[in-house]
Amino acid sequence: MDSKQQNAPVPQHIAIIMDGNGRWAKQRGMSRIEGHKRGARQIKKVIEASVQLGVKFLTLYAFSSENWNRPKAEVNALMRLLESTIKINAKYFVKNSIKFETIGDLAALPAYCRKAVDWLKNKTKDFGKFTLVLALNYGSRDEIVRAVKSCAEAVKNKILSPENISWEEIAKRLDTAAIPDPDLIIRTSGEMRLSNYLMLQSAYSELYFTDVNWPDFGESEVKKAVAEFAARERRFGKTSEQVNK
Ligand code: FPP
Repeated sequence: MDSKQQNAPVPQHIAIIMDGNGRWAKQRGMSRIEGHKRGARQIKKVIEASVQLGVKFLTLYAFSSENWNRPKAEVNALMRLLESTIKINAKYFVKNSIKFETIGDLAALPAYCRKAVDWLKNKTKDFGKFTLVLALNYGSRDEIVRAVKSCAEAVKNKILSPENISWEEIAKRLDTAAIPDPDLIIRTSGEMRLSNYLMLQSAYSELYFTDVNWPDFGESEVKKAVAEFAARERRFGKTSEQVNK
């Protein structure tokens, strides 16, 4: 590693849209569900690569608020896979002091999933070096609606006055209140859209798209994305001259 690489900025928070499980499976004559199973196995590899690089937060889009519209058998299989992935990896989380968090409205998840999610959250709540966040029944539009309702309640109860509604007041009511904005958003499988993912939090995120399907996205792909991130100039509304001063 040369000195330039050593000083390269590392994203504190990476958020990923894990796409392409179905296509990966179809290309191999497998079922979509088998594609999701292979996809679930990639998670640990991507966590390991992220920890190694010095990333602190990894947020994965596991189930969107729109994914309920998929065939019932696929939804059920994804819920079962979520539960089993949590149970299988619980020891790994504890051994490596990884905190498990979620964003999204968990109320709609089947009770057995919520139970597993809450159990692992509670078991890992005191860890903090690295946090894995799963977006479950998550959608930005649903999240902002819930945040606006909370502001309206606060106004109704005279805890907040309308003049004092600010970005900070809204941000602290988002599911991501305790999580920094993502520095880098990755979407696999060649699709180039955000699909209702972290729409407000991605205001200044760097976007990275790759043709690689999620079941093939591993350590070398994480490193490639982070290297591209390091080469980007982040200006946050300023000029290039200002940020390079
Ligand atoms: C997109 O692939 C993936 C999903 C909708 C769900 C992501 C789920 C996993 C990676 C596995 C399960 C996760 C956990 C946390 C247990 P797609 O089905 O849209 O692929 P396609 O666009 O090729 O059809």
